[in-house]
Amino acid sequence: MRVINFGSINIDHVYRVEHFVRPGETLRSDDYKVFSGGKGANQSIALAHAGVQVLHAGKIGRDGAWLKHKLEEAGVDTVLIEMTEAPTGHAIIQVNKEGENAIIIHGGANESVVDDDIQRVLDACEAGDFLLLQNEINSVDRVLLEAKKRGLFIVFNPAPMTEAIKSYPLEAVDIFIINQVEGEMLTGKKEPLEIIQEMQKHYPRSKTVLTLGKEGVIYADAKHQLSKKALDVVAVDTTGAGDTFIGYFLAGVVSQSPVEKALEMAISASALCVTRAGAADSIPGREEVKSKFNLL
Ligand code: RIB
Repeated sequence: MRVINFGSINIDHVYRVEHFVRPGETLRSDDYKVFSGGKGANQSIALAHAGVQVLHAGKIGRDGAWLKHKLEEAGVDTVLIEMTEAPTGHAIIQVNKEGENAIIIHGGANESVVDDDIQRVLDACEAGDFLLLQNEINSVDRVLLEAKKRGLFIVFNPAPMTEAIKSYPLEAVDIFIINQVEGEMLTGKKEPLEIIQEMQKHYPRSKTVLTLGKEGVIYADAKHQLSKKALDVVAVDTTGAGDTFIGYFLAGVVSQSPVEKALEMAISASALCVTRAGAADSIPGREEVKSKFNLL
């Protein structure tokens, strides 16, 4: 089974800072690096590292050819990536001493998706394919509608979360992968278990994975609910940890692993990711994850 991931590809400009810049403040950064990123591309790389056949669909500008090569090096099929005249999307990322981040994104080519692109990408999908989406390209609502008509299995990570997402045809989604902020905006509830309950109420046939950072993760479907603790690691840079989790979790679903095992691999891979700098570059390989955490 394959995953088609229709998502963003970004150039990440990463600045190490003492603290996140405050209103009116000019802040010096002594460490600046450029990495490949974008929630979409990171998730494709995580899927490939986890051993899944993945096609990334998306748009870049001429300045983004190196990002396409990065995806190819990781084993991602890039036949559905188009080069446009718009500049490649980018992110300005501050990373503080605790390894936390604050991110500004500029969509660029990621937001130049037109109806023809949606048809082209969905025409490449076959029965049984998984379609993975985030919220860093435009027209996600149209993609959801069209994909549902074609009977694809849809996995949605509504990040970055916006008010507009609430009016998307979310009943089309088979698996939601959300964090607490996204869950709160989607359901109006703050407490993790209340978020899960509301998700089940509004989308009874969907599965929800709620990630809670250091508190671990909760999974729920119509019949089961289970929680798993996070692993205790020293964070260097948390950028891309959520994307790593999603790629590895979906890899488990695609290979029909028990949910508990899929979550265990995803938690372990994202724990390893936060111990390194960068987004795509910090995503570990499957064998490394297994040997580091003694997983079968
Ligand atoms: O999830 C991390 C990603 O968010 C970064 O790579 C950045 O590009 C933004 O899209």
